[in-house]
Amino acid sequence: MKICRTVQELTDSINTVKENKQSIGLVPTMGALHNGHKSLFDRARKENDVLVCSVFVNPIQFNNQDDFKKYPRDEKKDIAFLEASGCDIAFVPDAKEVYKEEPTEHYDFGQLEQVMEGKQRPGHFNGVATIVNRLFMWTKADRGYFGEKDFQQIAIIKDLVRQKNIPIKIVACPIFRDEDGLATSSRNQRLSAKAREIAPKIHQILTKSFQMKDDLSISQIKSFVESEFKRRKEFELEYFMIVDDTTLQPILMKKEGQGVVGCVAVWLDGVRLIDIQRYY
Ligand code: PAJ
Repeated sequence: MKICRTVQELTDSINTVKENKQSIGLVPTMGALHNGHKSLFDRARKENDVLVCSVFVNPIQFNNQDDFKKYPRDEKKDIAFLEASGCDIAFVPDAKEVYKEEPTEHYDFGQLEQVMEGKQRPGHFNGVATIVNRLFMWTKADRGYFGEKDFQQIAIIKDLVRQKNIPIKIVACPIFRDEDGLATSSRNQRLSAKAREIAPKIHQILTKSFQMKDDLSISQIKSFVESEFKRRKEFELEYFMIVDDTTLQPILMKKEGQGVVGCVAVWLDGVRLIDIQRYY
């Protein structure tokens, strides 16, 4: 595995791959790698000649500086994880390398960014789009792999690709879960042992709501999920929204053929966790 710390090193490696006419799969990450990330690496490796992974805790996508400071970092462990996952090129820059000058990009994702994470975390998606756009340019990847855990992020990135006409295919990958159903996340390691035991309730509540979907209206599903979180004092529900899976706008009644997904953000033990449930 080649480790690149500068854009120049990355560009040199990518040029060699391109000269050999090999396809490139890119998996951008912020490190603290776990099996959720690995599910993306595996898929990308299968579908491309060369797997490129980036590890960069992107400061400009954190609207909360405390969250940025507390974000788990262990570069040695991440590099070993990438090596064991069959990564060919690891891009591990520091912030000075990525942002040689203060970034000034301003993106407009319209209604896609006015709900859920976009609404709760001002500037977050502008920061995500800024780094992801640079990674797409620098890696010249044929395919970019993203997890459905960050459901809104995928919609934003697809829109970025559309707006800027970037020649890349975005591949949305299903959520990888621990055996007890908790979506794996770098943030899970910040949960106390007791909170970690409670956390699978998030997926359980969503699954239960899915099982009831044929008997309930959309607004009844929403009320059910909200009340299930509210009656457990360990959880503090930030939002639960049932949205169209493309426009991300809340829906009250399902239309024929419409994809419908429930997205939740909930605090547990001072840690903010997100998850989704597809209904249709
Ligand atoms: P990070 O949170 O490290 O996640 C990197 C990728 O892994 C994202 O596409 C995310 O959706 C995916 N992922 C995380 N947990 C997953 C799980 N349990 N199952 C499936 N996929 C999972 O998302 C980011 O970093 C950043 O915003 C980034 C795109 C790298 C830009 O900085």
